[in-house]
Amino acid sequence: MKGIILAGGNGTRLLPCTKVTNKHLLPVYDKPMIYYPLNVLIGAGIKDVMIVSGKGHAGHFLELLRSGEEFGARISYGVQEEAGGIAQALSLCEDFADNDKIMVILGDNIFSDIKVIKKAVQDFEEKDKGATIFLKKVPDLKRFGVAEVKNGKIIDMIEKPKKVKPNFLAQTGLYLYDNQVWGFIKMVSPSWRKELEITDVNNLYLKTRTLSYRILKGFWSDAGTFDSLLRSSAWAAKQKK
Ligand code: G1P
Repeated sequence: MKGIILAGGNGTRLLPCTKVTNKHLLPVYDKPMIYYPLNVLIGAGIKDVMIVSGKGHAGHFLELLRSGEEFGARISYGVQEEAGGIAQALSLCEDFADNDKIMVILGDNIFSDIKVIKKAVQDFEEKDKGATIFLKKVPDLKRFGVAEVKNGKIIDMIEKPKKVKPNFLAQTGLYLYDNQVWGFIKMVSPSWRKELEITDVNNLYLKTRTLSYRILKGFWSDAGTFDSLLRSSAWAAKQKK
């Protein structure tokens, strides 16, 4: 199983802090943001990692993380020429994945449930087909992609829902995929925000009845807005004390 960290995008919600640097290099308490998703991959037992970032910043990631040896990983780097969405960034990793199953994590997502994730990764590697996503109960559902869950099954996936229902759960930025993902990415078209949405890819798994989920109970936050960055830093600081 291979690991992929998506660290592209323009980080517009963190301007002016992202005017000259990449969002994923900003500090979450005492470490650059990207250390957190990297630790989740390594904690789940994944050693081969590819990081996709935007043009202008790829060299900074290379300077920071180099070969990955310091972290016990082998790191490759990819460059997204234009911010075109999560699924578009992921499409750049097809050769790297080499038909293996993959674990994809967004570079601005902070997770505490490393043991639960590790177990899910082991199960997925050994027996599961299709895709597994990780859901979390949150108060601000409209900021995220959501899964509508009925009788223990996902019945729909919606990116940034306008209206929310009590049976919606947020889709976190962590995804396990088999090699069908590459074909599915080629089938999706840009959304209203001109991005290839990962939620549309997950909807294709749903249509073929191969989308499973786990619910996370621990801390999870993105760190892509000032409030969520502050929340993530406060959580990280608390872990140290
Ligand atoms: C992205 C995904 C969304 C997911 C979120 C998690 O949103 O599109 O489905 O819930 O990450 O952080 P974005 O950060 O692009 O708004």
